Amino acid sequence: MRKILFAVIFLLSGTSLLRADEGMWLPSEIILKIKDMQEKGFKLTAEDIYSINNSSLKDAVVHFGGGCTGEIISNEGLLITNHHCGYGQIQQHSSVEHDYLTNGFWAMTRDQELPNPGLTVSFLDYMEDVTEQVMKGYKKGMSEEKRTELIEKNTKKIIEKAKKGRSSVSVSVKPLYYGNQYYLYVFKVFSDVRLVGAPPSSIGKFGGDTDNWMWPRHTGDFSLFRVYAGPDNEPAPYSKDNVPYKPKRFFKINAKGIQEGDFTMVYGFPGRTNEYLFSDAVKYTAYKSNPHKIALRTLRLDIQNREMAKDPAVRIKYASKNANVSNAWKKWQGEAKGIIKMRAIENKQEFEANFTKWSEGKPEYENLVSRFRELYAAIEEISLVRDYQSEALNAVELVAFAGRGQRGAERFYKDYYMPIDKDCFIALYKAYDKNIADKYKAPYFKEQLQKFGSVEAWAEAIFTQEPNLEMAAEIYRNTNKFFNDNFAPVLDSVNREITLLYRTYMMGQMEYNKATRGMKVFYPDANSTLRVAYGQVKGYSPSDAVYYTPVSSLDGIIEKDNPEIYDYNIPQALRDLHAAKDYGEWEVNGSVPVAFIATNHTTGGNSGSPVLDAEGNLIGVNFDRVWEGTMSDVVYDPEICRNISLDIRFALFIIDKLADADHLLEEMEIIR
Ligand code: ARG
Ligand code: ASP
Repeated sequence: MRKILFAVIFLLSGTSLLRADEGMWLPSEIILKIKDMQEKGFKLTAEDIYSINNSSLKDAVVHFGGGCTGEIISNEGLLITNHHCGYGQIQQHSSVEHDYLTNGFWAMTRDQELPNPGLTVSFLDYMEDVTEQVMKGYKKGMSEEKRTELIEKNTKKIIEKAKKGRSSVSVSVKPLYYGNQYYLYVFKVFSDVRLVGAPPSSIGKFGGDTDNWMWPRHTGDFSLFRVYAGPDNEPAPYSKDNVPYKPKRFFKINAKGIQEGDFTMVYGFPGRTNEYLFSDAVKYTAYKSNPHKIALRTLRLDIQNREMAKDPAVRIKYASKNANVSNAWKKWQGEAKGIIKMRAIENKQEFEANFTKWSEGKPEYENLVSRFRELYAAIEEISLVRDYQSEALNAVELVAFAGRGQRGAERFYKDYYMPIDKDCFIALYKAYDKNIADKYKAPYFKEQLQKFGSVEAWAEAIFTQEPNLEMAAEIYRNTNKFFNDNFAPVLDSVNREITLLYRTYMMGQMEYNKATRGMKVFYPDANSTLRVAYGQVKGYSPSDAVYYTPVSSLDGIIEKDNPEIYDYNIPQALRDLHAAKDYGEWEVNGSVPVAFIATNHTTGGNSGSPVLDAEGNLIGVNFDRVWEGTMSDVVYDPEICRNISLDIRFALFIIDKLADADHLLEEMEIIR
């Protein structure tokens, strides 16, 4: 019954209401979208995308290390993902003598490929709708506790059955649509994954945080790995005797290029989206949470950047931390702006008003909207207190380190620079003092502040020659305890009810939609499971009187090149190639393509995803989104939301001309 409802709604949504190119679809249900895909240029079938019995495109897509996507591009287990996805591994192998971050790394023979303990690559074996089995024994009116218990029990059985007799598999059951549907996922997990190649960071991270989340973009954001298997081609722990994995499927590479209007498809593991949120939650994000968190991170970034500019050693220590702080900081700004510009809150409010009218006399739905409003109002203030706990109080490095038991001390001190942390303490704790109302402020904080007379004096006492770890730990313990004792329980219980409401609201939105042909295309929110997004190569207008075309090139890198600016200082070898116009077969109109944008709906986790053409061949590697469209995690605007991909020809050019690693090109199947 439930299944049928979902199918009907999917089919309905495939018609005229379709908001162009929004959606992250389940590969096993892609049959419901295939007609639309084909109308937009796709040449293959649903069975080509996902098949239980035969090899299909899905067999070449992997979950890379849990947080990214990767894809197989040769019959010998060669894998491509982003540079920023392999960054940790590249860094781990780097030292002053072998600075692969700065100089890049290329294994010229198989035995030069570097193992990466801890890194895994997972192939989806199959996925299956197990809603009926998960809900087996459920009766209407069952209490929430009983329901949860039942689901846990059934899920355990399903997982045990799927695991039976198999090793190196990872099995999970995941809820979709806030628990209206459940899917089983069975993965094969490989743990011998070796680093094969990476360009210098000045190419792989070109533009750094200055260009991050932006178009036009010129980042050569790729790295290469190889999956190894035991002699039986099955997953095996690292061993010298392992052999390159023979995949069921690998992507052929289309080097003939793309053009505006071409069909594109992204096949990967998007992490988290919230497309069905109630308006008040979106409002909180755009007007409260994001602005406060942005302001707090601006304080930190200003201090970090100032000190990093003064001293190269400090710059190296804080490079990765700074990138992390900056990544979300920049995204939150784009997201808040996008939500407001799109009038997403007003649109949702209008929808909610119509929904309420429609729901009159339908007991399961008719009070949803008012209840949401009450619940969100009840937690608005303490949600902000929570944000300040994590983004201000706990964001002081020493406080978090001491409070969490001084774990990883060696690494902590290696990358620690006290003057930065001290200034952050002063700035962040002042902000907490100013912006958090007295009744929400931790008593310990108030006592200490009174005792020392000022945040500055308090800082002097902690950040001494030998930092006072005990004081830092006390701050952490006391303020977190205050929050956990007083606010966390309320927050948790309200959030539990909110989650429950969403389960009903989700159903309600679908029924409403069916009844009125209302507003939205339904696809489950991203939850780190495999999805298909499709669209076309397309420019956009970020603001009045500005239009961005969709393809960038090496000439753009040269325009930005500046030895004085860290983010734009390219390797001399690349300058030389440009000066000599030594582009080989990768030349297009006198330059080499670097990146392109398209309308595929993607999010964090889609980094490294294969970008495919109408025939299912690889044309790019997804790595980011445009800044003005980062609200797509909450609301997607087809006019503005674009994913950013590396043009695969730029990777081929770098491998060929900069790395001279022809042997890698030879194992790929390149359509020229
Ligand atoms: N914005 C991209 C993503 O969300 C890439 C981030 C890595 N690069 C950086 N400069 N911080 O992951
Ligand atoms: N850069 C993101 C990632 O690492 C992708 C995105 O958010 O668009 O997954």
